[in-house]
Amino acid sequence: MVSLAHYKPITASERGVAISDHKLTDFTAEEVWQLIDNYRWLVFKDNPISEAEVKDFLHQFGPLTENNRRKGTVLNIDGSKADEGEVLLGEGFLPLHRDGALMGTNVLLVGIFCAEYKNITVGGRTFITDAENALKEVPQEYLDILRERGIEGKPVDSYYLKSADEWHPIPGFIDIDGKSYLNIGFPSPKGEKPSWLMRIPGISDDRFDEIFTTMTSVLMDEKYCYYHEWEEGDLLLFDNRKVLHGREAYRGERRALANIQVLAA
Ligand SMILES: [Fe+2]
Repeated sequence: MVSLAHYKPITASERGVAISDHKLTDFTAEEVWQLIDNYRWLVFKDNPISEAEVKDFLHQFGPLTENNRRKGTVLNIDGSKADEGEVLLGEGFLPLHRDGALMGTNVLLVGIFCAEYKNITVGGRTFITDAENALKEVPQEYLDILRERGIEGKPVDSYYLKSADEWHPIPGFIDIDGKSYLNIGFPSPKGEKPSWLMRIPGISDDRFDEIFTTMTSVLMDEKYCYYHEWEEGDLLLFDNRKVLHGREAYRGERRALANIQVLAA
């Protein structure tokens, strides 16, 4: 039994919590769920546990994603496909997204564990945003467009299991316990190679740019968005339904993260 009362939120919107006085496995599954429910994401620092321990702990919440992109239940995000021009498994920028949207899976929780982080000279932070509160600053007309039309995504990286030859419809929002949460992947910034393309059906390019320039500046503001500087052994754990996340492009010697997903029942 660990006291949860002394943890304080990271963002001004009161989401995210950093935990350096305990490791994940000091908590019960119920305690971790309570923290996730309150804060949406947890940052474990200074008390590394093994990748196997992370997997065993997360398995308490449901089945873990397994597919032929993974080694068992782990996706190694280690820059190994940078030479093949891949973004996700390379070193590129990943805009805000919800895991599983382009894979057609409903992912409840995501754990990202830092196995190696050596001499990264530029970028490399993972970011997580409190989209729920940030949306209060987004013009209602933009949200209405996303709700009515949804988005369409098209894979560019060969990583995704869906066809790269067609646009795949994705609902703009998902509903959880009577509340709705943004469900979309954002477009890549101009000048960055995309991992996926996206559009809003029936909306012009100019209007699309206007909507996403505004949404990006609000959702990536530090009032709502936490930028994580990795150290080996760190673990990020977040509610993949209620936040959006992404990562900066990076350059340097070696950055190896392990992504583990808990599927919704
Ligand atoms: Fe992701």
